[in-house]
Amino acid sequence: MIDDKLKHLAIIMDGNGRWAQKKGLIRSLGHKEGAKALEKIAIYANKIGIKYLSVYAFSTDNFKRSEAEVTYLMDLFVDTFSKQYSKYEKNNIKVIFSGTEKGLRKDVIKTMHEIKEKTKDNTGGVLNICLNYGGQEEIIRAAERYHEDLANKRVKKIQINRDNFYQYLDNNLPPVDLMVRTGGEKRLSNFLLYQLTYAELYFIDDYFPDFTPKILEKIIDNFYKRDRKFGGINEKKNKN
Ligand code: FPP
Repeated sequence: MIDDKLKHLAIIMDGNGRWAQKKGLIRSLGHKEGAKALEKIAIYANKIGIKYLSVYAFSTDNFKRSEAEVTYLMDLFVDTFSKQYSKYEKNNIKVIFSGTEKGLRKDVIKTMHEIKEKTKDNTGGVLNICLNYGGQEEIIRAAERYHEDLANKRVKKIQINRDNFYQYLDNNLPPVDLMVRTGGEKRLSNFLLYQLTYAELYFIDDYFPDFTPKILEKIIDNFYKRDRKFGGINEKKNKN
């Protein structure tokens, strides 16, 4: 059973384009299947008791892709959020977003606000969708928020430390315990850099549209066998 050892799961949903290309389809169809896989994973994670699930839906750097692909992805977000919200509503999942609205289309922002508002009182798991997101940019925004608080005298000068810094990030979520990246690449790609400090990392070859609750279940089983030391040593195992 899931306990506090696994409060926050993060997923880099990579490989949508390759999934489609391998099947001789256009890349966009891979994103569409990715959206379906996300819904299943989010509902499963909530059902088994994972309190926070963060997913990388669109990085700020993804704007470098072709205009057609960016437009398709933005249309897909509007379409998916409008449809998926009722499933999240039914499953008591609260949807929030990390990233910046700057540079996003108005209809995307409107849909994000709507799903956030409609699910805000849900008390089950939290689905944090990282959209127009970059980890370094989030840390810079946090520093700016603290600076603004100080300038407006909203807070007394406090000693910033690694625990209380979380309150200045886009969302005050606990550190990530487990991070899974699908699609075979082994890098972080500017995802949740502050929160991933002591996360256990899993890189799997499956493309995201093929990622299923069953695969996640196996990863979680393995995660529970890992010995997390957070820079210390395991007292029970190392008696000498
Ligand atoms: C990376 O695959 C994936 C993305 C840039 C988009 C992720 C989006 C979804 C899973 C769709 C739905 C999400 C929401 C929130 C509605 P890639 O295109 O880089 O794949 P590749 O490495 O094979 O090219």
